[in-house]
Amino acid sequence: MPEPGAIEREFGVPIPGVIRPEAEWTRTAIKRLPPSGPLDWPALFGRVAPVVVELGCGNGRFTLLSALARPEVDHFASDLLPVVIRYATRRANQRGLRNVRFAVKDAQTVLGSYIPPGSVAEVHLYHPQPYHDPRQAHLRVVTPRFLADVHRGLAPGGLFVIQTDNPDYWSYFARVLPVFFEFHDHPTPWPDAPEGRSRREILSRSRNLRIFRGLGQRRDEISAAEALALAESLPPPSFRSRGPWCDLDAWESRPAGPRRGGGRY
Ligand SMILES: C[S@@+](CC[C@H](N)C(=O)[O-])C[C@H]1O[C@@H](n2cnc3c(N)ncnc32)[C@H](O)[C@@H]1O
Repeated sequence: MPEPGAIEREFGVPIPGVIRPEAEWTRTAIKRLPPSGPLDWPALFGRVAPVVVELGCGNGRFTLLSALARPEVDHFASDLLPVVIRYATRRANQRGLRNVRFAVKDAQTVLGSYIPPGSVAEVHLYHPQPYHDPRQAHLRVVTPRFLADVHRGLAPGGLFVIQTDNPDYWSYFARVLPVFFEFHDHPTPWPDAPEGRSRREILSRSRNLRIFRGLGQRRDEISAAEALALAESLPPPSFRSRGPWCDLDAWESRPAGPRRGGGRY
């Protein structure tokens, strides 16, 4: 158990924040989501504040960073995988964060059932899994329907932030995202996290992979119904990918156990 004041590191890069004395720890896990949603943000956080959502958050590094830097903003983050959410919640709890909640849930259900329309200031998605096996390609998160659902969840003027190290997935983003968002790429590291906003970004950069970052402002002139109709007319992500980024995907998806390099999430 790290001591209060300890700085944890992951691949040599500090995890944002410091561990507080136990008396200041909080509870940031949502053990059970309401069966059918939607979430009531003010009831969940006990105040009215802008809400930032991170999907596929992994070990929650970005959400920790953002929640510590923006105490006036509430954060909801989710991932499919219980083990990564356990790491994320433990760190948020030990940092005494009150503006964060984590849940185990797939991104599609979060968007489709839990986020009230027009209720979120920002949606973040870092390094969605590319699912190289063609039999799993249907599991790719970024589809036209997903983007229409992000558009519906965002408040007017809301932001969608996305990044990947996969140039083929990025080409797909560059084709479909501008339909729903005023989209710009952001080639340099985010100023708030010069060594990387997420675990995967840090890992990718340690292998000299190029990171593709983008920022989209919701196109407010498109209604939710129009966004759904547009989504119907766009192709699914059907790329095949070959390159060193695939080796990192294979390394990351090897069976659990003591992990080389980082040791854990
Ligand atoms: C490559 S990791 C990236 C994690 C983190 N965002 C980062 O950049 O370090 C992809 C993450 O997406 C999660 N994931 C895969 N499919 C998902 C889905 N449908 N909904 C939510 N999370 C998903 C995985 O469990 C994994 O944690």
